[in-house]
Amino acid sequence: MSTLSVDHLLGIKDLTADDIQLIFETADHFKEVINRPIKKVPSLRDITIANLFFENSTRTKLSFEIAQKRLSADVINFSASQSSVKKGETLIDTVNNILSMKVDMVVMRHPKPGAADFLQQHVNARIINAGDGAHEHPTQALLDSYSIREKLGTVKGKKVVIVGDILHSRVALSNIFALQLLGAKVMVCGPKSLIPKYIDALGVDVETNLQKALQWCDVANMLRVQNERMLVSYFPSIREYTQQYGLTKTILDGLDQEIVIMHPGPINRGVEITSEVADSKNAIILDQVENGVAIRMAVTYLLASKIKT
Ligand code: CP
Repeated sequence: MSTLSVDHLLGIKDLTADDIQLIFETADHFKEVINRPIKKVPSLRDITIANLFFENSTRTKLSFEIAQKRLSADVINFSASQSSVKKGETLIDTVNNILSMKVDMVVMRHPKPGAADFLQQHVNARIINAGDGAHEHPTQALLDSYSIREKLGTVKGKKVVIVGDILHSRVALSNIFALQLLGAKVMVCGPKSLIPKYIDALGVDVETNLQKALQWCDVANMLRVQNERMLVSYFPSIREYTQQYGLTKTILDGLDQEIVIMHPGPINRGVEITSEVADSKNAIILDQVENGVAIRMAVTYLLASKIKT
């Protein structure tokens, strides 16, 4: 049986192209399972998973929980805002207390970059990074590439532009790594102030003009402006950002080719994308969410398989 080359999912940076293919093939199977009348398999009946969310989440938190329940794992959910973290307990003490209750795997979202890697070095459990600050969001990138593969048949050779706040985005970084591993051509587009200075080292093209970027691409992944990670303003006003980088139907209609529109959510309708575009036939935003369950089932299943061996 094929296995992943890693024992934890901390970032796409640690994966190989073969790992991603294995995750996709496993997700294909689970996608078929979750569309059956009985959506559950007994694969992880003996596994207990803790979901630790130190930062807000809708899609990631719920889809991990659904994925784990579809695999018949036992699940406990931890929200930092209602925990003893508020009384000063450290991350390691918190997790070790949870692990004492015989937990096998931890899914963690944390506002600090590197938190998942730190945890993996200090506790004895499989760790899945559900987003660590502006660093990585590996399962989002996997479900994004999986959704492109589903829509266009392959990721290899496709031109994908990631638009918006690249500087503060863990989705952008993980997507760049995943898309490049799978052979896509990647461009980032946004105001210069929101493009990281190290971008050249990532081997992507950079474009500040949205029309030119969209004219080039097969797929546009529209990102939210991450106001919660900004200590200063990076552009004059939201209205001016929207005028330059907001995706409208008029812009889409003016392109020479049809493109696929993606968004990791949460969407700020009327800022980076209009409702008309977000709800259009070009958009696969809800397909991304559906695929998130299959991808998270696949990742959880493949890492849990390594616990038993
Ligand atoms: N895409 C994503 O990570 O959404 P949530 O913050 O709602 O989990």
